[in-house]
Amino acid sequence: MLSFGLEGARSQTRTTPDATAGPAKAQPRPIPEAGPLAQPKSLAQVGLPVELTRRVICADNPQTPEKIALGEKLFFDGRLSADGTIACSTCHDPALAFTDGKPTSIGINGGVGQRNAPTILNALYNKTQFWDGRAKTLEDQAALPIVNPIEMGPPNIETAVARIAAIEEYEQAFRRVFGRPPNGPDLVRTIASYERTQVSFDSPFDHFIAGDKNAIGDSAKRGWELFNTKARCNKCHALSKEKRDATTFTDNKFHNIGIGILRHNVVALARQAEQLIESGNTEAVDRAAVGTDFSALGRFLITKKEADIAAFKTPDIRNILVTGPYFHDGSMETLWDIIDHYNKGDGLQDPYLDEDIQPLALTEPEIDDLVAVLASLTSSQYKEQGAKELGRQREIARTNRPQRDTARAFGPKPPRPAPPGP
Ligand code: HEC
Ligand code: HEC
Repeated sequence: MLSFGLEGARSQTRTTPDATAGPAKAQPRPIPEAGPLAQPKSLAQVGLPVELTRRVICADNPQTPEKIALGEKLFFDGRLSADGTIACSTCHDPALAFTDGKPTSIGINGGVGQRNAPTILNALYNKTQFWDGRAKTLEDQAALPIVNPIEMGPPNIETAVARIAAIEEYEQAFRRVFGRPPNGPDLVRTIASYERTQVSFDSPFDHFIAGDKNAIGDSAKRGWELFNTKARCNKCHALSKEKRDATTFTDNKFHNIGIGILRHNVVALARQAEQLIESGNTEAVDRAAVGTDFSALGRFLITKKEADIAAFKTPDIRNILVTGPYFHDGSMETLWDIIDHYNKGDGLQDPYLDEDIQPLALTEPEIDDLVAVLASLTSSQYKEQGAKELGRQREIARTNRPQRDTARAFGPKPPRPAPPGP
């Protein structure tokens, strides 16, 4: 018997407490307006990697102001969904730093998914998209939520295109931008172009790295030191383990760091998933990743490699303060929970735990320092929101530290359980 799921998320959002079986249901959020925070961002931000930015803007989908404006319209338009209620921005709301602020997302007809919506800020720098990297480019990515039955819901991309094409304004805009009527590939090109304008730097940390010694406090400075030494964060949240890297905070790789393992029997799940993976059907894998318990398998769903069981992409951690709740399943609420998790080197009963996860013996002041450096990664546009959120999280953490386990944090590295035999 397998028992899983985001019990917390589900009980929070379930509107029908009776025992009618089936996926959890909840009320999706109203579609947000494209306000000032949705505007394409300036490329003149302190900390913006100019060369890298130029490189990740694809040659076969050049940025033009008209294409970007069209992509922005579509990003906020519920008419891409089967019943008009869900837009990309439902789950990627600029006012919430392009997330939905929920543990896991709610889509069409109130379907509750299994995964936390990542921000699309700086998603242009991702080597792969999604927590398990199942899409390579932003163009490939954009087609999947549209047709996912618990996200936006039309049966196929052609149906979504037909609805857009029936709207005079869109029909003309596509002809102006591409010289032809609306079609699937152009649709995702416009959305990807808009997403590539969402660069987000100019944080206190960026000013510090650029030479302003007073841009961050002493605690955050100590946190940055710890990040690259005792706390071992740089083992994964840096381009190389050897050099300090303050660009996108990811190695672009996948690791099992022990999230959600105890709630799922991932080994049994992996056996069940093999057939699905054999099928090589991208949309079927997308449905499994977003809407079923196979979600917990992470990268394994794509590669079928044993070592990828419950491995997820190392995410960029810029703007982390304003993009909670945290991890692929939205299972943690505060930055203190995150550090507590790493501090105890979680992974008891996890045969696939990454070698770089181990008890860290961080003291309480050191934990606060790491929280401070994470908080300093908030871009100027979200400064006020970040300050408020830090206050809220600090208040919670005063009395509630569910991940804290000091004995394990200061104990030895536990032996890793052997993977089960074939
Ligand atoms: C119902 C909520 C929902 C809707 C609607 C939605 N998304 Fe998402 N988005 C998510 C979730 C959840 C994930 C993570 C899924 C996963 O990794 O398996 C995600 C992942 C992404 C990512 C990958 C980011 C990263 O860091 O890997 C991008 C980019 C993205 N969405 C863009 C879009 C676009 C464009 C649309 C509209 C065409 C859209 N989303 C519609 C919830 C949603
Ligand atoms: C072994 C590689 C590895 C190490 C070491 C590591 N991380 Fe992570 N980090 C990841 C991966 C992979 C995820 C996503 C895991 C998931 O959601 O299942 C993640 C997620 C996070 C998140 C949540 C991001 C989000 O959007 O929800 C934060 C914050 C974070 N790490 C900070 C840190 C800090 C601080 C340290 C050092 C104390 C650290 N990490 C050490 C690989 C690592």
